Amino acid sequence: MKDSSIPNFFEKSRKDRLNIVKDFADLSKEELEILENSCGGISFDNADKMIENAIGTFSLPLGIATNFRINDKDYLVPMVIEEPSVIAAASKAAKIAKIKGGFKVDTGESYGIGQIQVLNVDIKSAVKNINESSKKILDLANSQSTTLQKMGKGAKEVSCREVKTDSISMLIVELLIDVGDAMGANVTNSMCEAVVPLIEKLTGGKVLLRILSNYYTRRMVKATAVFDKERVGGDETVDNILLAYQFAANDVYRAVTHNKGIMNGIIAVANATGQDNRAIEAAANAYAAHSGKYRSLTEWSKDEQGNLVGKLELPLSVGIVGGITQVHPIAKICTKILGVSSANELAGILTATGLAQNFSALHALVTEGIQKGHMGLHARNLAAAAGVKPHQIDEIVKKMIHENNISLVRAKELLNEI
Ligand code: MEV
Repeated sequence: MKDSSIPNFFEKSRKDRLNIVKDFADLSKEELEILENSCGGISFDNADKMIENAIGTFSLPLGIATNFRINDKDYLVPMVIEEPSVIAAASKAAKIAKIKGGFKVDTGESYGIGQIQVLNVDIKSAVKNINESSKKILDLANSQSTTLQKMGKGAKEVSCREVKTDSISMLIVELLIDVGDAMGANVTNSMCEAVVPLIEKLTGGKVLLRILSNYYTRRMVKATAVFDKERVGGDETVDNILLAYQFAANDVYRAVTHNKGIMNGIIAVANATGQDNRAIEAAANAYAAHSGKYRSLTEWSKDEQGNLVGKLELPLSVGIVGGITQVHPIAKICTKILGVSSANELAGILTATGLAQNFSALHALVTEGIQKGHMGLHARNLAAAAGVKPHQIDEIVKKMIHENNISLVRAKELLNEI
């Protein structure tokens, strides 16, 4: 079995880190070269094909979180993020979670939801006609994707909802589509558009919008983990983490920050694997308010032995086929590093990373505060950017923190002084 615990990974040279990842994920020489030399992965020509009015590309740091064990499998987790501390925090949390077996994740169905807005209808008779012709609607929708059909996936259900506004009632016809290992945005939109003439004929109404919903409540993912009481810091720290959680569960100003920390983990892995991070954020934030009150996405409690138990559940749509997942060379390699064989497996990793991130943030907040570790790492990054060699970094970082002058200018001055 592969082991994601790699002692002192952060102290190793880039070359050594790359070699560890190469061996772990069985990367080819070519893939290693892409990671080493491509400066972020895509050429201008590719960028110019992806978006309009392109003038360049924009790269971000790619790092590896270690120690992750999820459903008894070890992962090195690639994360793309500009913020210091996040990757160290994820690795640290995963290390503690591993003591009690790591993260457990549950994923269920992979249904995308497509919405068709129908106006000027008699709702009752329109709903009756839609229900009676649901097979016809599904067949028409499924004609848009022979690939999904061949896999036994595709549009599975049609349902109707009435949405009342101050002045009118509208009918919303929803297609539930099993999108398998894709994020499914394109296929969902194509299916919605394809059924418009039939829906108009059946309802006698006029269709306005036909578009996916990013609120993926039929693509839920749940991650849980137990954090060993002693490694967390004892009863008092566990209790303080629970109090910090209660703050986020009962105050929207705190909940948004708390959830932002969770998204630090989720979005960093989403970025590394080429996911639509806006869709993920939008769904997560909507779900945070599903009870009618915006709240913490995680839940924290204690088990009988006093260990800390964390749970994160949210709607999450990711894909390992389609989109840029198999086009962007680095996203492709990151997906290979994870060794995932399904979108659900990937969704589980994102969710576990979000939970890990939340644990570390709460732990730091109830103990030394967030700034110490944050500024230490920030100082390390600046020292490295100033050209400080690894064996001199500790000394220079210590001085910068002691002087409370964490800046690139000071790092350069100190480098000249030693
Ligand atoms: C910083 O990016 C994230 C935190 O603010 C999250 C939190 O407060 O829980 C540390």
